[in-house]
Amino acid sequence: MPCNCCEIENNTFTDAEAKTNLRDYRRRGPAKQTRLILEAVRSLGLKDAALLDIGGGIGTIHHELLNDVAREATHVDASSAYLKVATEEAKRIGHEAQVKFIHADFTDVADELPQADVVTLDRVVCCYPNFRELLKAASSKSRKAIALTYPRETWYIKMVMSMMNFFQRVRRDPFRVFVHPVAEMEKLLNEDGLKRISTRRLFVWEMSLYQR
Ligand SMILES: C[S@@+](CC[C@H](N)C(=O)[O-])C[C@H]1O[C@@H](n2cnc3c(N)ncnc32)[C@H](O)[C@@H]1O
Repeated sequence: MPCNCCEIENNTFTDAEAKTNLRDYRRRGPAKQTRLILEAVRSLGLKDAALLDIGGGIGTIHHELLNDVAREATHVDASSAYLKVATEEAKRIGHEAQVKFIHADFTDVADELPQADVVTLDRVVCCYPNFRELLKAASSKSRKAIALTYPRETWYIKMVMSMMNFFQRVRRDPFRVFVHPVAEMEKLLNEDGLKRISTRRLFVWEMSLYQR
């Protein structure tokens, strides 16, 4: 099912990009911001957890966490290119039976999915206009914790994102990137019973871990 309420189409993230991401992951391991999520989830000390990875791209988070923290994972993604690469990599490393792959806008299918112990969104809210709907649906699926990365609300990131959106408009590509208000994301998760227990920052990305 394509993503019908944001502008992620099958060509937004191309096969070539997905393959490049996989090559980088195999060479250098998880990206810096993804490592922050992995460390945060591992800090919870869970074993045999059920993981829900929303917009997991090439699947780095479940490739890693199925080695120690998780027993099963669901990867919901709007991009068919990413899902194809993630599926192939899961097969290659022997995790095929433990991961369920779903091609969809998460907000469309959330009601049909079971809860998971941990929900992750690595660089996902910034691709989605309606962060409230996305985070509400994500938190409703989280039994214990949510870890997410998003762009920091700094002037330089807002400027770069505006330029990226300008070029998208010129190219007549409807996909846009967003710097969503961090305080509002936090308020929404707090209202759903999740409290922020750690935050770490890189130059561009911020990672926050919320726990029930
Ligand atoms: C910038 S990529 C990040 C991929 C990966 N998490 C990473 O950090 O490398 C954003 C991902 O989120 C997915 N995505 C964004 N909004 C989504 C939604 N509402 N439902 C499912 N996937 C979504 C996109 O398809 C894409 O795979």
